[in-house]
Amino acid sequence: MASISTPVQDLTVEEKEQRGEQLRTAGIVIRTYDLWKTYIMGDQEIHAVSGVDIEIRRGEYVAIMGPSGSGKSTLMNLIGCLDTPTKGLYYLNGKLASDMEDDELARIRNKEIGFVFQTFNLLARASALHNVELPLIYAGVPSQERLARAKATLAAVDLEKRMHHKPNELSGGQRQRVAIARALVNRPSILLADEPTGALDSKTGEEIMALFERLYQEGNTIILVTHEPDIAAHAHRIIHIRDGKVERDETNR
Ligand SMILES: Nc1ncnc2c1ncn2[C@@H]1O[C@H](COP(=O)(O)OP(=O)(O)OP(=O)(O)O)[C@@H](O)[C@H]1O
Ligand SMILES: [Mg+2]
Repeated sequence: MASISTPVQDLTVEEKEQRGEQLRTAGIVIRTYDLWKTYIMGDQEIHAVSGVDIEIRRGEYVAIMGPSGSGKSTLMNLIGCLDTPTKGLYYLNGKLASDMEDDELARIRNKEIGFVFQTFNLLARASALHNVELPLIYAGVPSQERLARAKATLAAVDLEKRMHHKPNELSGGQRQRVAIARALVNRPSILLADEPTGALDSKTGEEIMALFERLYQEGNTIILVTHEPDIAAHAHRIIHIRDGKVERDETNR
């Protein structure tokens, strides 16, 4: 068997699978090898992500920072299995996600990943409760259990009393908490958040960060994108991205 330090490009198909197993056993939930995402615009190539190697262990709390256009959202979408890389390998929980077809990606995403979007992405006409229930409908969970889990998850973000409200009957911070509950309801192993406080005032932003801190204390793996140093300071590791590359990877405390 190839050792964990053998370069991936030298591995056979079988050894690639074994590498996934080694990563999983070592507690590494996310590992990218020379990951690229290139967009073709006319005769121009845009390398939004260009050769990223990152390794994130179970239970880490990581912030990704970088200037506008540096590739943060593109990288998050790759990590969240919302998009596929142009080149390179991506292991999610030991599985080679970069080789997966769309339906398999959707399945692993639903199981492993909770994604919080900058603009909440809630269904406007549905109640908070129904918004949180949705991922469970996709996952085929029976209705009674679905309701119980959606309610419990809303309670976990202190929104029990607002579960019958629609998004426009909630404050910005409450909407973001609904979005976080929706991301958590499937009990994903990884919570990804792209500018989760971007649309919120600083006080409401701090409330959301307190919630993330609790989720981290409970053992969840959290990766968030932010351009605000105050927000990034909550994370225990900060990865700085510039021009699609990792510029710096620092431990924070
Ligand atoms: N679908 C696309 N087609 C072509 N180019 C794209 C596409 N999506 C993103 N890009 C380009 O890729 C680069 C990285 O974009 P990305 O959205 O990842 O940046 P970002 O770091 O998230 O920026 P921001 O902080 O403004 O959200 C940018 O130059 C952007 O113009
Ligand atoms: Mg972005």
